[in-house]
Amino acid sequence: MAVSWSNVITLLCFPFSLFILSSASSEAEILLSFKDSLEDVLNVLSEWSNTTTIPHCNWTGITCAAENVYSVDLQSLNLSGEISSSICQLSKLTSLNLADNLFNQAIPLHLTECESLEYLNISNNLIWGNIPDDISGFKSLKVLDISRNHVEGKIPDGIGSLKNLQVLNLANNFLSGSVPEVLGGCSELLVLDISQNPFLLSEIPGDIGKLDKLEQLLLQSSGLYEEIPDVFEGLGSLSILDLSQNNLTGRLPPFGKFMQNLVSFDVSQNRLSGPIPDGMCEPKGLTNMVLHTNSFNGTISNDIIKECDNLERFQVQNNMFTGEFPSRLWSLPKIMLIRAENNNFSGEIPDAISKAVQLEQVQIDNNSFVSKVPQGFGSIRSLYRFSASQNRIYGELPPNFCDSPVMSIINFSHNHLSGSIPEIRNCKKLVSLALADNNFVGEIPSSLADLPVLTYLDLSENNLTGSIPENLQNLKLALFNVSFNRLSGRVPVSLISGLPASFLQGNPDLCGPGLPNACSRKHKMSSLSKFVVAIIIIVVVVVAAAAFRAHFIGQSNHQKSLTGTWKLFFFYPLRIAEHELLMAMDEKAAKRINGAFGEVYIIRLPSGESVAIKKMENFGSLSLKSLKEEVKNLAKIRHRNIVRILGFCHSNDSILLIYEHLDRGSLGDLIGKSDFDLPWRVRMKIAIGVAQGLAYLHEDYLQVLLHRKIKSTNILLDADYEPKLTDFALDRIVGENAFRLSLVSESETSPYFPPEYGYAKKATLEMETYSYGVILLELVTGRQAVQPSSSVEDSHNVVKWVRRKINIKDGAQQVLDRKIPHEYHQEMLSVLDIAVKCTNVMPEKRPSMSEIVRALNSINSSRTNVSFKAVSMPLGESSASL
Ligand SMILES: *[C@@H]1O[C@H](CO)[C@@H](O)[C@H](O)[C@H]1NC(C)=O
Ligand SMILES: *[C@@H]1O[C@H](CO)[C@@H](O)[C@H](O)[C@H]1NC(C)=O
Ligand SMILES: *[C@@H]1O[C@H](CO)[C@@H](O)[C@H](O)[C@H]1NC(C)=O
Ligand SMILES: *[C@@H]1O[C@H](CO)[C@@H](O)[C@H](O)[C@H]1NC(C)=O
Ligand SMILES: *[C@@H]1O[C@H](CO)[C@@H](O)[C@H](O)[C@H]1NC(C)=O
Ligand SMILES: *[C@@H]1O[C@H](CO)[C@@H](O)[C@H](O)[C@H]1NC(C)=O
Ligand SMILES: *[C@@H]1O[C@H](CO)[C@@H](O)[C@H](O)[C@H]1NC(C)=O
Ligand SMILES: *[C@@H]1O[C@H](CO)[C@@H](O)[C@H](O)[C@H]1NC(C)=O
Ligand SMILES: *[C@@H]1O[C@H](CO)[C@@H](O)[C@H](O)[C@H]1NC(C)=O
Ligand SMILES: *[C@@H]1O[C@H](CO)[C@@H](O)[C@H](O)[C@H]1NC(C)=O
Repeated sequence: MAVSWSNVITLLCFPFSLFILSSASSEAEILLSFKDSLEDVLNVLSEWSNTTTIPHCNWTGITCAAENVYSVDLQSLNLSGEISSSICQLSKLTSLNLADNLFNQAIPLHLTECESLEYLNISNNLIWGNIPDDISGFKSLKVLDISRNHVEGKIPDGIGSLKNLQVLNLANNFLSGSVPEVLGGCSELLVLDISQNPFLLSEIPGDIGKLDKLEQLLLQSSGLYEEIPDVFEGLGSLSILDLSQNNLTGRLPPFGKFMQNLVSFDVSQNRLSGPIPDGMCEPKGLTNMVLHTNSFNGTISNDIIKECDNLERFQVQNNMFTGEFPSRLWSLPKIMLIRAENNNFSGEIPDAISKAVQLEQVQIDNNSFVSKVPQGFGSIRSLYRFSASQNRIYGELPPNFCDSPVMSIINFSHNHLSGSIPEIRNCKKLVSLALADNNFVGEIPSSLADLPVLTYLDLSENNLTGSIPENLQNLKLALFNVSFNRLSGRVPVSLISGLPASFLQGNPDLCGPGLPNACSRKHKMSSLSKFVVAIIIIVVVVVAAAAFRAHFIGQSNHQKSLTGTWKLFFFYPLRIAEHELLMAMDEKAAKRINGAFGEVYIIRLPSGESVAIKKMENFGSLSLKSLKEEVKNLAKIRHRNIVRILGFCHSNDSILLIYEHLDRGSLGDLIGKSDFDLPWRVRMKIAIGVAQGLAYLHEDYLQVLLHRKIKSTNILLDADYEPKLTDFALDRIVGENAFRLSLVSESETSPYFPPEYGYAKKATLEMETYSYGVILLELVTGRQAVQPSSSVEDSHNVVKWVRRKINIKDGAQQVLDRKIPHEYHQEMLSVLDIAVKCTNVMPEKRPSMSEIVRALNSINSSRTNVSFKAVSMPLGESSASL
């Protein structure tokens, strides 16, 4: 029984299964022959094999419909090789996705043989060459995505014959020339993206107006110029329009019905002018209306349907628009983003802004708005940024102006606001509050101190009175500017020490260490004490002058009378008194160099020695006792490659650090000269010396010391070109806050700062290695870390320049300084290799300074053919203590 049944089944099934087998094997063979021309480095297509039992419909990336391959999706598999037309033998193939791979070839035009292909995605490969006119052969295509490749040349007319095309994406290529007037032929288009083709130079083709099904038109950053043609009126389905970052001029054309479905409108960063067309977003006659399901209700839903009700993003910033800003924009039910800064719009912000319940971000800085801050402002719960600086906003700030729970940036600087600043209670996320240059009066609200993440506070140029709330010290303020008000009283200590004095200036009645006005104990008698201070100063000056003269007559017995104001400590027998030092600094003869925290004076002492004196503001962040300790500790450093601190001198206002002076100047100065050509041996000596100095600070000193300001201008050279590090560990003397602040502007542009500097909480040894690596690059390439007059942006910064060059074949040879003879090139390449390791973007990959010393010494000794293998040089030898 069972036997006969199975026979029946076999008999019944045989012809059928044979058919499936032959069909399956041929499709599998087609796939295998397609795979043959691919390079599959990651072996992700291992299932695609003639020995596997897995049916081909289950192979990676394959989808079948009714036993036939319908879709081949090989996205993001690091495939390369040839895209073979053999795949077109799959008669039902509808979709082919090869995006995000490494195909390096021309556009695979032979795929036009795939007769039923509707979807072709070769985005994000290395496709090059022109788009051939025969692209028109893709008759059945509905989706063509060639974006993010290296395709160049003109857009061919043939594109216009793709009648079925719904999505055409040519974005992010190197297309050039002007966009032909043929796209109107692709009448089914829903998405047209030609954005990010910076070499196009074109007007917006007028026949785009024929694409009445178009939903997305993306033409940003594509070299478009001239006026926007008056063709948008018909585009009733458009939901995203992006024409930003082009060179468009003239006025905006009338919008017509295309605003009905619009969600995002962006014409920012062009040279558009004139007003926004009349009546934008105003209710029109019902005949124009198309009804939608709107998700809002309440008061608005009773009105007739209005234009713009779907609008979420409106961006017109950085143009030259004038006239009234369309007032209904402020109350649209879905509006999230309004950007109109840097135009000359006028108009008022209406109270109805409270209806814009989705509003998140508003930027209208630098216009001519004349308005109060609307009362409704505080009731928008989603608002996180509102900046309206440089307008004519007047009146008082409503008490609820910062009630949005997510509010983080408010900028009303340079307006005409008056009254007092309301206490702030609700916006615990506020990061930045700028109210500079208004007419605010009254006191600084102490509730500001309860905002946990407040970082930027600019209240300068108002008419604020009273004292600075003590508890503002608790905040981690990176900017606290109250200059030019009428504040008075003692400035909280940490605000003085952590921030530049210029943020406090213009408040004659403020007092504290480092300010013109030191607080007297009894502050109320401040005018009397000012008088006393003035008298003291006069006396001191007179005495000092007398002492100075006395010195030259050979009598110096007035010294003791000065020690009350200035205290001088020497760690080295210098024959000079404090007043002589001060007088010498005042002399015109003293050479001054501007540095961080103040100036450096080079002074020749009566004994003939010369010293460098660095004058820094005394931020008072350290007590006298610990200041003395810190400087003493630094002065204890005795190392061949570190400049000695000879002494220091301080008053309440200033700290003077006295260093030994080296006449040859700094390495940075030398490299900066056009005729820089130190021999390679000298450069190696400098590289090794600096590395030794740093390794000593990092590893061999009493405690781990970070230099914190490694750069070639802080490497001084003695007569024998022995390098010495200077300006080290100043953070110990001025305090971390003041130190960081002094570096803020530098850190944004200077190549010496590693990429992690911006967000790292504290300085690390790895950061120092990075900066040292930059100096090595300077030595190897003979280029300054920052090339001041470079036209190409990237070659500005030596790290980027080198990285870019050495990625190319034989590029490493090209970065070597040509002035060094060829015989040293091998050695230079080895040093370059170390430099590249030091400037690795991953901190943990960078070597330590002592490893670097070892590596450099081994390169050095292999040249001099010394037979012993490089051993770490005993640093102690060079750090003979005095
Ligand atoms: C499988 O393919 C390989 C090469 O692609 C070929 O050498 C081999 O003969 C094939 N085996 C069978 C059973 O077809
Ligand atoms: C092939 O895939 C289908 C659907 O995912 C599954 O049901 C079937 O078991 C698979 N066959 C094999 C042999 O893996
Ligand atoms: C794929 O190739 C890219 C570029 O060559 C490479 O960065 C990436 O690591 C590769 N992915 C894998 C998984 O190997
Ligand atoms: C093409 O593939 C890329 C990469 O996955 C994807 O982002 C893009 O949306 C695809 N294009 C289309 C039109 O589907
Ligand atoms: C805009 O045009 C000006 C001159 O007409 C040209 O200098 C500038 O590079 C163009 N800008 C862009 C973004 O194309
Ligand atoms: C209308 O709004 C109220 C609150 O204002 C809400 O409770 C209700 O669900 C909304 N109705 C619709 C249909 O969205
Ligand atoms: C203000 O906007 C104008 C254009 O309207 C622009 O030229 C100017 O640079 C802007 N000012 C600032 C400070 O951004
Ligand atoms: C801006 O527009 C106002 C009129 O609203 C005009 O008085 C002013 O001169 C314009 N400013 C600029 C810079 O064009
Ligand atoms: C506020 O706006 C002014 C002028 O537009 C700008 O200079 C300032 O940096 C802004 N302040 C903050 C804290 O963003
Ligand atoms: C500040 O207030 C004083 C007195 O009320 C007034 O005389 C002065 O003009 C005001 N200054 C500014 C810049 O508003």
